[in-house]
Amino acid sequence: MMKKGNQKISLVLATPEDVNQYLAIEKSVVGPKTYSGITGEDEAKEELKNNQVYFIKKDGKIAGTVQYEMKGQSHAYLSGLVICPRFQGQGIGREASKRILQKLKNMKRIDLVTHPRNTRALMLYLSLGFAIESWKDNYYGDGEPRLLLSYCRV
Ligand SMILES: CC(C)(COP(=O)(O)OP(=O)(O)OC[C@H]1O[C@@H](n2cnc3c(N)ncnc32)[C@H](O)[C@@H]1OP(=O)(O)O)[C@@H](O)C(=O)NCCC(=O)NCCS
Repeated sequence: MMKKGNQKISLVLATPEDVNQYLAIEKSVVGPKTYSGITGEDEAKEELKNNQVYFIKKDGKIAGTVQYEMKGQSHAYLSGLVICPRFQGQGIGREASKRILQKLKNMKRIDLVTHPRNTRALMLYLSLGFAIESWKDNYYGDGEPRLLLSYCRV
């Protein structure tokens, strides 16, 4: 496995024309009950319309996506973070999350949801400064719960 460290990545804003690429990245991680991904084209188009979606590029290749949705003037919701399986475990998810938090540094509130058994995601978010706020039963209507986390600046 590649050594972790400060990953040189860039974030490139996606456009509606990128729908197929976006969908392919989502489909690369969908499956386990701990992650509810986008699988249909119409749903993907909606996501691209309602969110700021960024492709995460590493050495010219697309390694994943990170996105947020503005819920209010100073409230941003981190609506997605996906690192394609072959790029996972190299520090790219951590670096992309830090970049997004930097972009959103003027927000009063930043929150997200994740599955209570998505240990990788939970460890990442807790170590970045997020804290658990509440438990939401059947959050997406598929019977699975989610934890609501919010970012606490120190
Ligand atoms: C969760 C996810 C985004 C993490 O991205 P990544 O690039 O693989 O993660 P990183 O290499 O940057 O590691 C970040 C942190 O995640 C945690 N982590 C990573 N792999 C882990 C593992 N196997 N076990 C436990 N924690 C792990 C650690 O806290 C790690 O930080 P550290 O190594 O500095 O201690 C990625 O696994 C993914 O895309 N998963 C599928 C989609 C998903 O669940 N997205 C989140 C939805 S809310």
